[in-house]
Amino acid sequence: MSRSLIVKFPQPGISYKISVGRGLLSSVGDTIVSVSPNLPRKAALVSNRRVFGLYGKIVTASLKAVGIDVFPVLIPDGEKAKSFRVLQTVLNSFSENKMSRTDAVVALGGGVVGDLAGVAASLHLRGVPYYQVPTTLLAMIDSSVGGKTGINSPYGKNLIGSFYQPKAVIADTTTLMTLPKREIVAGFMEAVKQAALSGLPMVERTAKISEHYRKFGREMFGENAIRDRTTDLILENIRFKTSIVRSDERESVAETGSQSRKILNFGHTYGHALEKATQYRNLKHGEAVGWGLLFAATLSKKLEFLSSDELNLLNDVVRGFGRLPDISNIPTNSILDSVLYDKKVIDGEIQWILLNGIGKPVIVSGRHVPRKILVQTHKQITTSP
Ligand SMILES: NC(=O)c1ccc[n+]([C@@H]2O[C@H](COP(=O)([O-])OP(=O)(O)OC[C@H]3O[C@@H](n4cnc5c(N)ncnc54)[C@H](O)[C@@H]3O)[C@@H](O)[C@H]2O)c1
Ligand SMILES: [Zn+2]
Repeated sequence: MSRSLIVKFPQPGISYKISVGRGLLSSVGDTIVSVSPNLPRKAALVSNRRVFGLYGKIVTASLKAVGIDVFPVLIPDGEKAKSFRVLQTVLNSFSENKMSRTDAVVALGGGVVGDLAGVAASLHLRGVPYYQVPTTLLAMIDSSVGGKTGINSPYGKNLIGSFYQPKAVIADTTTLMTLPKREIVAGFMEAVKQAALSGLPMVERTAKISEHYRKFGREMFGENAIRDRTTDLILENIRFKTSIVRSDERESVAETGSQSRKILNFGHTYGHALEKATQYRNLKHGEAVGWGLLFAATLSKKLEFLSSDELNLLNDVVRGFGRLPDISNIPTNSILDSVLYDKKVIDGEIQWILLNGIGKPVIVSGRHVPRKILVQTHKQITTSP
């Protein structure tokens, strides 16, 4: 079973189809044919060894079946691949293979592959069509939709990139059955984030999915009775994210309402600080976001935005997906100092995304949040069971 939705942006000519479901890898070629005014002659299949080893053959076969030649472009596994050096190798490979403006870039993998392939696609010949085939939960519900592409620089994460929308997103949920457990929990943390921003019904549906996850582990993605509900939840996340991105594609500085793209950074200020304080080594991004959600929800309660019941519910959903890695040995000051250097600082002021009730995000200037409260909040989340 698969479902799809069409995302339309206010700018003319930008719209694309997002499909989610089982067995879609074998239809990547057909999807490209259906949305391309000029059939690509060749496709750069950007992936890493691990994912390509698992799913490269089936995607290659589906492209070849519709007459598209494929050349694989394999990048190293992990965040370190989002570098200038690897970007250059990928761009060289596009040129060596004489990719034209009507050929295609297909990103097969998680957020790292998608982000890097997206930058490369936006730069080669000033832009070639690009397709996202996400194979991690995080990439399906978050990074593959919305059009942010990026690499890291010596100065920080995702500092270089472009806004570049894919021509289609094809998410085959059976690929999640080979995803390591920590990556699944990390992906679900972004789902909890979106649910908390969306409202109570989505939080409750996410809590239900966490029960299935506790029972079946990653087999839930193949389990008859629940896989359709999982597909629905993934689609609901995509719908939520695209609704925000459509109204504020470029994350405008001036936009501070509940439809601002900035609200998607809920849980990320503290999450990014944790990643930075641990040199991006100990925590998956989603795990850091999990801690960030606990932090932002607790801070919202301390500032009397969120009720105890709402805070308890969010805590339960986050912790319901499993234990997050221990962070109690990271010095409080190194986390809080990193908070103040977050990328989202505007005019020297950090902007906290908090909840004025579940489903009601607010943006609060750091001016109104004394460091003492941040220290208390950090202590509270790291000492509760
Ligand atoms: N562009 C955006 O809007 C956006 C949003 C959120 C995150 N991101 C970026 O996404 C990146 C994180 O993405 P991620 O969490 O997908 O990590 P990832 O791409 O590193 O993938 C996680 C690991 O899972 C492996 N893997 C992928 N699919 C697999 C599968 N089906 N089976 C087995 N193993 C598989 C990968 O090889 C990797 O080792 C970060 O760089 C982050 O900055 C971008
Ligand atoms: Zn994130």
